[in-house]
Parts: sequence; C-alpha cells; structure tokens
Amino acid sequence: METTFIMIKPDGVQRGLIGDIISRFEKKGFYLKAMKLITVERSFAEKHYADLSSKPFFGGLVEYIVSGPVVAMVWEGKGVVATGRLMIGATKPSESVPGSIRGDYAVEVGRNVIHGSDSVGSAQKEIALWFPEGLSEWRSEMHPWIY
Ligand code: TYD
Repeated sequence: METTFIMIKPDGVQRGLIGDIISRFEKKGFYLKAMKLITVERSFAEKHYADLSSKPFFGGLVEYIVSGPVVAMVWEGKGVVATGRLMIGATKPSESVPGSIRGDYAVEVGRNVIHGSDSVGSAQKEIALWFPEGLSEWRSEMHPWIY
C-alpha cells in the first residue's frame, strides 16, 4: 500500500493547526502510520531539502524549518501521495485553491504550513530519513471494508 511523508511545519504547529490537518487526512480515509513532534537540527533540514540547495530561498527555508517543532507523519492509502498533494494545495498560497490546506490557511510561500512528498520515490526517501526506526504495523487489525 502507498505511503507518503507529511510534515506540519513550525507555523502550522504554532498556529494550532495540527488537529485540523490530521482530521482532514483521517476523514478522507487515509491511515496514520507514524507520527512525532520534533525539532530538527539545521543539518537535518538541509538534508531533507537537499534538492533545493541551489535555490535563493534555501537558507530562509532551512531557518524556518528549524525554528520550532514540526509534526512528522506517515500516511498510508490508495493514491495518498498525489491526493495528499491536492489536499495540501499549490506551493504558492496565492495559487492554492480554497478548500486545500494552504488555500485555507496560508498567504506566504515561505510560511506555507505543511509539506507533502511530491512522488512515491521521494516519499520513500523522506520516510527513511525521518523514521529511521521504522514504522509499526497496525493496519492489519482494521476492518478491511472501511476506506
Ligand atoms: P517545493 O519543494 O518547490 O514545494 P512544495 O513544498 O510544494 O513541494 O519547495 C519547498 C518549499 O520551499 C516550499 O514549500 C516553500 C519554499 N519555497 C519558498 O520559500 N520560495 C519559493 O519561491 C519556492 C518555490 C518554495
């Protein structure tokens, strides 16, 4: 089953949006496989965003991610990578539609509340980076007819 890495960024945590964001993913029908509230080191944030290291906003982005605790999560479900991106909304809040998380809660690209993996491949890499301890299995105990 497909899994994705979702992170509520420091502004989302500080603004009290954790419950709402988790609720959206639960109500959609996805399964929460792992979750932790952590403050990461600069070197860790740089690793997470390594693909963007040449961008002019990289320094500010790393500062933002290390500025406070984030909620790191793994969600599982059919098409969760692409559907998760739709639920999150476009990178720039000015382009993210109302109804999406960024469309409802953000106005500034540098404070856009949430991260979600952009492909199945990057989801696998990000989950391995953020959850080196591995994920516990619990879904097998769920009723298979619930989706
Ligand atoms: P990116 O991976 O392109 O977007 P997304 O988070 O939607 O996958 O960029 C990572 C983060 O970098 C983005 O969420 C916010 C920040 N960023 C800026 O601060 N300025 C920018 O111009 C862009 C494109 C991104």
